[in-house]
Amino acid sequence: RVWILFLLILTNRKNSGLYEDHLTILNDVNQTPILWKNKGDNATIHCNHTKGINYFQMYWYRQVPGENIKLIVFTTTAKPDHDFGDFDKKKFSATKPDAESGTFTVENLEPGDQGLYFCAVSQHSDTDTCGTYFGSGTKLTVLDPKREITPPTVKVFQPSSKECRNLKDEKERKKTLLCVARDFYPDHVSIFWQVNAKNVTKGVATDPAARLDDKTYFITSRLRVHAEVWTSPGTNFSCFVTFFDGNKTIIKDETVFAVEGMFMWNSEIT
Ligand SMILES: *[C@@H]1O[C@H](CO)[C@@H](O)[C@H](O)[C@H]1NC(C)=O
Ligand SMILES: *[C@@H]1O[C@H](CO)[C@@H](O)[C@H](O)[C@H]1NC(C)=O
Ligand SMILES: *[C@@H]1O[C@H](CO)[C@@H](O)[C@H](O)[C@H]1NC(C)=O
Ligand SMILES: *[C@@H]1O[C@H](CO)[C@@H](O)[C@H](O)[C@H]1NC(C)=O
Ligand SMILES: *[C@@H]1O[C@H](CO)[C@@H](O)[C@H](O)[C@H]1NC(C)=O
Repeated sequence: RVWILFLLILTNRKNSGLYEDHLTILNDVNQTPILWKNKGDNATIHCNHTKGINYFQMYWYRQVPGENIKLIVFTTTAKPDHDFGDFDKKKFSATKPDAESGTFTVENLEPGDQGLYFCAVSQHSDTDTCGTYFGSGTKLTVLDPKREITPPTVKVFQPSSKECRNLKDEKERKKTLLCVARDFYPDHVSIFWQVNAKNVTKGVATDPAARLDDKTYFITSRLRVHAEVWTSPGTNFSCFVTFFDGNKTIIKDETVFAVEGMFMWNSEIT
């Protein structure tokens, strides 16, 4: 018993330690969270940190839909010239006035500049403890003035009765609900699911980015549940889509209800 208690204390210590580290990482590097701009504008992202003056190196990364994350520029207070590698200095610029802050600017914005931009800081790379700390990202939206800001319409499609019906082991049977959000502009959305009004993340797969369909965007998300969840009476499944319109966040959702006995009936006639 004493041992168990001892182990419990150790586990608690360890967990709370991890939790604190996690919080520290999130709080140490601050960057502009959202930038909402028109085509042709310049976008300047601010970044600052509280890691101390030894962290005088700042990196700027970007991740645009369909591409990997790329390092655009490395800045340091030690050198006035910033290293843009192959990137165009007419398109990107940066400032590094002191150890604890910096800015990054994307000029003459085009739709292709839309995406996530990350600020990261580190100590001099020769030191042993040179961990790199990331900010939580800036979501840059580039608006086409010709397009109207429109929130999504949300539709949940029920699982197909044919899905997995041939599987012998009932426990293995899964059902997939499909949520489609469409006709929105711009693509500042996120999706989450609830089963019986409780958030679920297990079994959820959402497209990594919204896609352009003519003039508006669409995005899909799937929720896979055990067949018996889909057939248990009274269970409801909701897809929530949050949309930012430049001023406020709008939430759209749709709920579907479990179809009682449907799946069993189908499997019996197979
Ligand atoms: C640090 O950055 C955050 C987010 O951009 C900003 O709100 C804050 O005012 C900045 N702090 C300083 C000291 O510049
Ligand atoms: C963007 O920045 C460049 C360089 O500083 C400047 O010449 C240009 O006028 C700016 N564009 C806008 C729309 O502010
Ligand atoms: C879904 O189920 C939860 C829990 O049973 C209930 O509180 C909620 O009202 C239901 N939602 C709908 C739309 O019926
Ligand atoms: C469910 O998840 C969403 C998105 O992550 C979050 O904003 C919301 O607060 C969560 N709701 C509950 C009841 O946990
Ligand atoms: C956001 O607020 C500004 C200023 O109040 C307003 O001009 C603009 O139309 C608003 N945009 C939307 C999409 O509501």
